[in-house]
Amino acid sequence: MRAWMLPAGSDGFDKLYLADDLPDPVPGPGEVLIAPKAWSINYRDFAVASGRYFGGVLQKPTIPLSDGAGEVLAVGAGVTKFKVGDRVAGAFFTDWQDGPPKMSMALGDGMGPGMLAEKVVLPETGVVHMAKSLDYAQAACLPCAGVTAWNALFGGHETKAGDKVLVLGSGGVSILALQIAKAAGAEVIATSSSDDKLKDVVALGADHTVNYKTTPEWGPVVKQEFGGADHVVEVGGTGTLGQSMAALAPGGEIAMIGVLAQGDPPDPRGLMMTGGSLRGIFVGNVAMADALNAFVDQHGIKPVIGKTFAFEETDKAYAHARGPESFAKTVIAL
Ligand SMILES: NC(=O)c1ccc[n+]([C@@H]2O[C@H](COP(=O)([O-])OP(=O)(O)OC[C@H]3O[C@@H](n4cnc5c(N)ncnc54)[C@H](OP(=O)(O)O)[C@@H]3O)[C@@H](O)[C@H]2O)c1
Repeated sequence: MRAWMLPAGSDGFDKLYLADDLPDPVPGPGEVLIAPKAWSINYRDFAVASGRYFGGVLQKPTIPLSDGAGEVLAVGAGVTKFKVGDRVAGAFFTDWQDGPPKMSMALGDGMGPGMLAEKVVLPETGVVHMAKSLDYAQAACLPCAGVTAWNALFGGHETKAGDKVLVLGSGGVSILALQIAKAAGAEVIATSSSDDKLKDVVALGADHTVNYKTTPEWGPVVKQEFGGADHVVEVGGTGTLGQSMAALAPGGEIAMIGVLAQGDPPDPRGLMMTGGSLRGIFVGNVAMADALNAFVDQHGIKPVIGKTFAFEETDKAYAHARGPESFAKTVIAL
């Protein structure tokens, strides 16, 4: 079978290569053999490729990516949840089923199996049924970015109709959070560095927008002009947290997710003035993935795909996802 791989010691996604003579994996007891049909790229995949993810520098040749969706080709002995032909996706953490965070093996991180192959074996516990209303490309957008957005909006303070949700930038997590929040009846405030992308987020339902480049002090603007955010999907990190705290409505919650913006962290005592809270997010568990897929079916959400590349063009897909033209999810499809 074919798979895209990163070599041991990889220091960037330019080291990706297509291996075309790998042995077909065989499912053992409790395992599922999947033929992925589509994949999506997440920001963390660049950290994996450059040896800066949690496992550090890759110790062995590695099949990357956590996010893939496809068809079940075979199941091992004892598998009860899946059968041949089922449409499935991987779960980011294959053995975190429910409850509070359990740091375990993550797909495509150099320790767990990666999805960017024509055939993948996963433990039954690390597979979810796709949302019925999605095609493979759309379903491939959800395992990391979608579940993270879901966790941000429902894993702590549950988002209710009428709440105000602030999403930062127009990347994968933020656009999915926008779509989920709108379906939940929330009012969405979106930021971007690009006025053109802000037009696109308005078309997707954003109620208010701010350009964070031309308005670097966007936090007080969100607070004063739009009434403050009850939920912040904080994908920036230390470089944006101060503005997110300034944007917070009384009692609001910041879901601490990303590392896109570097900077000195703000004084956390600012949260005392709003009774605000900060909650760390590490993607989410299998139960959240299932809940998200049910919600997607219920509300007819179609994950936004900025651009799609062929499997053979995976290196170009990575370059696009890293570049200024990327919007929402970048997908690779057979
Ligand atoms: N903790 C977790 O479990 C978890 C899970 C998923 C993702 N993450 C993290 O969340 C972040 C987003 O991931 P992703 O996959 O959605 O990334 P992505 O799709 O690559 O997002 C790229 C977009 O981020 C926006 N951006 C960049 N710098 C920004 C800034 N200073 N302020 C606001 N927006 C900024 C830009 O939007 P514009 O072009 O519109 O400006 C850019 O197009 C990453 O840091 C990732 O590592 C963490």
